[in-house]
Amino acid sequence: MIKKAVIPAAGFGTRFLPATKAQPKEMLPIIDTPVIQYVVQECVDSGIEDILIISGKGKRSIEDHFDRNFELESRIQEREDEILYNRIRHIEDMANIHFIRQKELNGLGDAIYHARFHCGDQPFAVLLGDTIIDSVIPVTQQLIDAYEQYGQCVIAVEKVPRDKVSRYGIVGGTQLNDKLMQLSELVEKPERDKAPSDLAIAGRYILTPQIFSAIEKTARGKGNEVQLTDALRLLLKHDNIIASTIEGKRYDIGNKLDFLKTTVEFALKRPEFATKFEAFLRNTIKNIDEGRRA
Ligand code: UTP
Repeated sequence: MIKKAVIPAAGFGTRFLPATKAQPKEMLPIIDTPVIQYVVQECVDSGIEDILIISGKGKRSIEDHFDRNFELESRIQEREDEILYNRIRHIEDMANIHFIRQKELNGLGDAIYHARFHCGDQPFAVLLGDTIIDSVIPVTQQLIDAYEQYGQCVIAVEKVPRDKVSRYGIVGGTQLNDKLMQLSELVEKPERDKAPSDLAIAGRYILTPQIFSAIEKTARGKGNEVQLTDALRLLLKHDNIIASTIEGKRYDIGNKLDFLKTTVEFALKRPEFATKFEAFLRNTIKNIDEGRRA
């Protein structure tokens, strides 16, 4: 049973500057909920009980968000707003959440290495703190199911357009069924013609503790950082790894355009303003079309 998860959230978020100069990108809200709360909810919905958030400089607001705020609670109680009160209490009671600081930003592999004492000899889930996946079955649960079947590391992957493979870490191997692939290679940002598939690594993993010794042996790679993909490639020399194609839609919030798309799509699903927001969007498109014709 996988009960522990690690959420790396220490990165600078340079793609989202200046918003991320003094606030974590993981705290950017999609409507009214910070990105990292969606990620923690995915953990909880997948049966995870214990979460380690890899935090860093300027990330205190993440800790505050999951902490109790008695003053705020009593203020909401005075207003007799039970729904809001329950929403706030829910955040504080979601799971056992622990924090560790990554003092130097040495990459995703290094961030995960900080979880070695927390995870011990147990397999654990990893969820990137800046990535939301909207799905019926939580993607972490999908990966746990594959882990329980095969007992190997599992990497979430998603199909990307062939002409965009050079932007991603791409996997290659033997297809076990429609969803699962036994990996034989992991290639970082391959040229289109050299890509072993069109399946890109998607920000969710189940890792066995063997990953920690692989990270120790991993030399600094791209950006002079210890990359998780490089450590996984090293692990693949001696261990088996499965890739699982996600059933769901992935949103990389660290990217401004994806952030906008996520906000629009999530707003259209919120019953309290979906209709008004849709009318606004239709009107905006109409104005754009009329502007083009004029
Ligand atoms: P990204 O690759 O998006 O890196 O990290 P970043 O540095 O935050 O973003 P940009 O590229 O500068 O805009 C994916 C996830 O891993 C975490 C980030 O916080 C993010 O949630 N991360 C990354 C760490 O925790 N530590 C690191 O050293 C790097």
